[in-house]
Amino acid sequence: MVGLGAKKPPSRKGSMADVPQDLLSQIERLEELFVVPTEKLKEITDHFAKELTKGLTVEGGTIPMNPTWCMGFPDGNETGTFLALDMGGTNLRVCEVTLTEEKGEFDIIQSKYKMPEELKTGTADELWNYVADCLEQFVEYHHENEKLDQLPLGFTFSYPATQDYIDHGVLQRWTKGFDIDGVEGKDVVPPFEAALAARGLPIKLTALVNDTTGTLIASAYTDTAMKVGCIFGTGCNAAYMENCGSIPKLAHMNLDPNLPMAINCEYGAFDNEHVVLPRTPFDIIIDKESPRPGQQAFEKMIAGLYLGEIFRLVLLDLHTQTECTIFVDQDVSKLKKAYSLDAGFLAAIEEDPFENLSETEDLFKNTLGILAKKPELELIRRLAELIGTRAARLSACGVAAIAKKKGWEEFHVGADGSVFNKYPHFKLRGAQALKEILDWPESKGKGKNDPIEILPAEDGSGVGAALIAALTLKRVQDGNVAGIRDPESLLKAMKLQKK
Ligand code: BGC
Repeated sequence: MVGLGAKKPPSRKGSMADVPQDLLSQIERLEELFVVPTEKLKEITDHFAKELTKGLTVEGGTIPMNPTWCMGFPDGNETGTFLALDMGGTNLRVCEVTLTEEKGEFDIIQSKYKMPEELKTGTADELWNYVADCLEQFVEYHHENEKLDQLPLGFTFSYPATQDYIDHGVLQRWTKGFDIDGVEGKDVVPPFEAALAARGLPIKLTALVNDTTGTLIASAYTDTAMKVGCIFGTGCNAAYMENCGSIPKLAHMNLDPNLPMAINCEYGAFDNEHVVLPRTPFDIIIDKESPRPGQQAFEKMIAGLYLGEIFRLVLLDLHTQTECTIFVDQDVSKLKKAYSLDAGFLAAIEEDPFENLSETEDLFKNTLGILAKKPELELIRRLAELIGTRAARLSACGVAAIAKKKGWEEFHVGADGSVFNKYPHFKLRGAQALKEILDWPESKGKGKNDPIEILPAEDGSGVGAALIAALTLKRVQDGNVAGIRDPESLLKAMKLQKK
């Protein structure tokens, strides 16, 4: 058995005494596949830090390291009313954020719309029309019979985009299972604006924002120790504030080297060339069967979209291999359905408080129609722990890599996403891994008062996007228009808004 390298975060004191030898050896095999020891975490982090630097060079690397043209933190004195649109993987959210005169304060109203599953593999027209319809509904509902001039909009578009300007973004590739033809390689702003114009909506796209950048900025609004914004959700990624002088691929623009520039790392793409991550045969299947094989290698091992699927593939493998060890004579047809189990399913298993794992037993019966025996339940629980723990430990490598690259030893990370917020033990396992990677003293790694603390973020895709729109308008007013495509029309929109 491979050791974790340090004390494990709390886990149920389950007994493996009743587990027969064949299942025990399967558990040991799974531990060898999924446990990532300290030394490996360190090796991954070192390579990761180098890849971050490489992504900023003219030649580039696998990690995109996208400059975002969000050039500074808010100081708390931002004011005004902004729309924020969050096109996440599951929901579409529209917010109206008013940054008030009170320093650092805001009011928010918001509506959520379900993102229909078919839209993710539909056509570009369907996507933009749906998004614009939601905005129209929002404006009609909240501003019925009002004469509106121009509302500036921060659009949180959480996919990798090349931004020559903040009000522009060429989609590099879809991630998180999206697969809509005719969008990759193109600027997403014109078709979006056309859909708004077709509805006569008084909305001016001011900033296209990644969720990580929004998270960074929203978190920094209330905590000046914030240096990194992270999402651990359906996908995974981080943004941090770089200085322009450390971004060789922007050297041709002759920007002041001391100017700040938020970088959307897009580090879900880390190790696409498979140099260092300990991929299992299951990770390889996930990649092969995904709409974009060869992309998002790191993300596919740790993000919420994939955790349930990894788990499903392992169970199916144990059932179908020649020395079939689990679910003998059971109908596993439901287990055969790809992506039928989500990260919430794994979380529920890890949260089962009962020694006899009765909740897990019910879950298998009700969701999959499988009657799992006690030893099988032990294996199921251990497998969920292994997959969840690997995700948290590998996630820590991304944060540690940014810290190493920048030479930052003490700072806060603002984090958001379903896995961070809801997956049991994720925070503690991540803190433990950071401690191992960065050789913190024994008393650290508890998630509180650590040199690097990963804290729940403010609403990045709402308040963060609004703040970035506000910062962009402020730059236009100040005549600092680097990376703003259309300062004139933004200025016009602002004047209209103030009328
Ligand atoms: C996307 C990123 C995003 C992350 C978290 C990834 O799949 O490429 O842009 O920040 O998911 O939502």
